This record gives sequence, structure tokens and C-alpha cells, in this order.
Amino acid sequence: MPVEVIPTGAALGAEIRGLDLSKPLGDADFEAVSQAWYDHVVLLFRGQKVSDDDLIRFSRHFGELDIAPASATDMAGAQEKSRPEIWIISNVVENGKPIGALGDKEAEWHTDMSYVAEPPMASVLYSLEIPSAGGNTSFANMYKALEELPADLRAAIEGRNCNHDSSTTSVGELRAGAHAVLDVREAPGAMHPAIRTHPVTGGKALYLGRRLNGWLEGYSVEESEKLLDRLWAHCAKPEFSWTHRWAVGDLLIWDNRCAIHRRESFDGRERRVMHRTQIKGDAPR
Ligand code: SIN
Repeated sequence: MPVEVIPTGAALGAEIRGLDLSKPLGDADFEAVSQAWYDHVVLLFRGQKVSDDDLIRFSRHFGELDIAPASATDMAGAQEKSRPEIWIISNVVENGKPIGALGDKEAEWHTDMSYVAEPPMASVLYSLEIPSAGGNTSFANMYKALEELPADLRAAIEGRNCNHDSSTTSVGELRAGAHAVLDVREAPGAMHPAIRTHPVTGGKALYLGRRLNGWLEGYSVEESEKLLDRLWAHCAKPEFSWTHRWAVGDLLIWDNRCAIHRRESFDGRERRVMHRTQIKGDAPR
């Protein structure tokens, strides 16, 4: 059966039909998937039944895997000991310890692990348990956000770097071993160009990481805060985004080089369990 690509009709995202990801992908199928991924930035595969090993094998089609990021303290299973590539995202607590990261709060707009020098180019997220409401994940297209950026804002960031803070997670918790940031100019993390060029498509995209503790190099804190507030308000406009409402067995892959994402909060009395991998990337340019 040929691979079917069904665009969401929004600013990004497409569903792929006709593939069972518990089996290795053939070359022609991978070619079709990877072309669809470059065209649509986020791909959705519904109704999958994949083990952690299947998830790792699928992810490795795209490249070498990164190990999972550091979480807040006291995560029992957020990084599985036997499979350090799998990051568990969950609010479930077992024997008094969270089995995964990020809990039930909103995860603000961000790019995964952009606070390292060579951030992962992609993330793959598979849903094992989902709440009856909330916990949806939205994506925003950073090629389009850049295309539509007001000229004065573009001029203000062209050729500039932005610091991507590593001290907190996307739900605002301090990572294990991190200290609260008192001056954004001294925040730990990585400096990256605020506008980057995608190494495969050649497209230019806004690349800001996350709002919290961000700093645009070369500006005073006050000027940088004003610019970042405007930039993030622009990125969050609904015309650049698409929201995925999860069902068990959904698997998404997204391109961190040209998309940001956020997750809604949900009722913490319900369970949400997701497994994620992250595929190595190179230094943004
Ligand atoms: C993430 O990768 O930032 C989490 C997304 C989610 O839990 O839906």
C-alpha cells in the first residue's frame, strides 16, 4: 500500500497513513516519510503499537539519537536506565516518585534541548496513556513566523544571537543541579543565531528556544525583554500553529529546527504517559 500524506490544512503538520511503525521501514517508504517531513515539519502516525525498541528503531532512520535531557530532581524513571535515549513524559507517581518529567502543568512554547551547542534536530513522541481532556500539543511553524515578522523586528534580530537558557524545563521547574537565574545575561545554556538556516531545506526560520530567561546578545536587558516579548507574541499567533488532540497509539515526529511546541495542562488526577526520543542535530547556523 502506498504511503498517503494528508496535510492538516493548518500552517504545518500532515498525517501519514499506510505504515506500521512496529516494522522496519523500507527505503521507498522512508524516502516518502522524510520528504513529507521536510514539507510539513510535523508528521502524525495514528493507531501505532510500538515498543521502546520499535520507537528507537523508527527514530534511528532519521539519524543518531541523543540521550534524554536532565529533568527536575527526583525522577524515578524519566530516563530509563536500560534505554537512555527514551525520555518518559508523565504525571504518574509510583511509590512516591514521578515516573516521568513535566507533570500535568502547561509546558510553554519551546524548542527541545536548544540550550545545548548542538540541539536535537527532531523529537519523536509516542502516546501510551492520555487524559480524557487537555494535554494537547500545539506546534508553530517558524519558517512562516519569520516570513510574517514585522520588518523592524526582523532588522533588530538579523545577525544576532539569542541565549537559550538551560536552567529550567518547559514547565518552569529548575533542572537537577541548576540555580535560579538572577540576570538573564548570565543564564547558562547556549547562544544560537536568532534566525537560522535549515541545513536540508535551506529555509530560514526564527530560532528562539524558550521565552524564560532568554536574552538577545548585544542588547540591554530591558531592550532584549521588550524585543523578546514582541517576538514570542508573534510566534504564538494562531495562524502559525496546529494543535494535535492525542489518542493512545499516536506517534508524532517534529523538526526542532523550524518548529516550536507547547503542551496544555490537564487534570492531574488522570494519567498521561508518553515516550520520547530525540535525534541528534548540528550547531544552528
Ligand atoms: C515536549 O516534548 O515538550 C512535551 C510535549 C508533550 O508532552 O506533549
